[in-house]
Amino acid sequence: MSRIVLGVSGGVAAYKAGLLLRAFTEAGHDVRVVPTPSALHFVGAATFEALSGNPVTTDVWSDVDEVAHVRIGQTADLVVVAPATADLLARAAAGRADDLLTATLLTAHCPVVFVPAMHTEMWLHPATQENVATLRRRGAVVLPPAIGRLTGPDSGPGRFPEPPDIAALAAVVLSAGAGALPHDLSGRRVVISAGGTREPLDPVRYLGNRSSGKQGWALARVAAARGAEVVLVAANVELPAPFGVQVVPVGTAEELRTAMLAEAPGSDAVVMSAAVADFRPATVAGAKLKKGSAGEPDSVPLVRNPDVLVELVAQRRPGQLVVGFAAETGDDEADVLTHARAKLARKGCDLLVVNDVSGGQVFGRAENAVVVLAADGAATEIPLGPKDTIAAGIWDAIAPQLHRATQP
Ligand code: CTP
Repeated sequence: MSRIVLGVSGGVAAYKAGLLLRAFTEAGHDVRVVPTPSALHFVGAATFEALSGNPVTTDVWSDVDEVAHVRIGQTADLVVVAPATADLLARAAAGRADDLLTATLLTAHCPVVFVPAMHTEMWLHPATQENVATLRRRGAVVLPPAIGRLTGPDSGPGRFPEPPDIAALAAVVLSAGAGALPHDLSGRRVVISAGGTREPLDPVRYLGNRSSGKQGWALARVAAARGAEVVLVAANVELPAPFGVQVVPVGTAEELRTAMLAEAPGSDAVVMSAAVADFRPATVAGAKLKKGSAGEPDSVPLVRNPDVLVELVAQRRPGQLVVGFAAETGDDEADVLTHARAKLARKGCDLLVVNDVSGGQVFGRAENAVVVLAADGAATEIPLGPKDTIAAGIWDAIAPQLHRATQP
């Protein structure tokens, strides 16, 4: 259990802070909500008190004997300010201490995550952008806002990200520190495939696999939080699109191939985390296959699908990084890493993220453990942890290679 301070500033998205608070308490954390006085115009203190089970104060004049303006910040493991308005970002960047939340920000030794939400013009204004840059330079994590419908009929960057996405990224910072989400992928475009392809047999049946898409989603979320422009080619994943990420839905291996080959040329890194079916039924019946009918098959002949990763490696442009995934099990011939090294050489990619799936671990689970193999033989172990923390470790392995590749 960690002690989280949830700062809420006065924007209409304050009503969504209740959902974030719920996600934190359900994960077992002790949450102290510190709204600004203007946040209470949107959501009453009683809501935050009931959901957190803790008292709620906004000014430095309550519980003076407990010196709350110092103690709350000093004892926190993480401060998340969500939503962070333009005004709150400005006051935090200036080091003001004119309410309990800004005083708490000045006394917190722990990592701080800001979740800006505001109107597009306010977000894009140079004053706000400079305040964000100042806060990032001082070590805070400032998430980019989602792009989408705002309070009124208009749409653009400034929307509050979905609370489960924020909670997942907050968990990365809790477990690995603010340094796990640096703004180091700014100006980079990355394309990630996720999920599992489905190869149709007839209009209602398919050959599929058990990939949930969760690791690919975490990779997309973390890359976006680290400043990248992200395209997520998603094969049969039901999850809501992560904030700021462009999702291209696909079904079959062939559709995934077409989407990846179209998106890859304009990108700095290509990550193939999707489980692509190696085979598809040789023919697809135009009508449902019925028992006892003349068309009832007694076997299903399969043909090979193209290897998308190998094709991406073949069309890789100079400086571009291609990352593959491998789900491996050890056998009588070799252990997991030996198989993985052979696969890395066979596929020709720059990095291979290796999952040990002996015994069916991983599929659909929230946690994972991987080894990142590099073409030069280096192996980096990322221990068991939430999929977003694994994703942060994978980007840590990719980012230096990207920067090296684009250096003059
Ligand atoms: N992959 C792909 N196209 C395919 C099959 C796999 O692009 N038709 C990609 C996956 O997205 C992953 C990597 O290749 O990044 C490794 O996939 P895996 O299924 O483990 O490799 P295979 O080539 O199928 O090897 P094998 O079946 O021999 O283990």
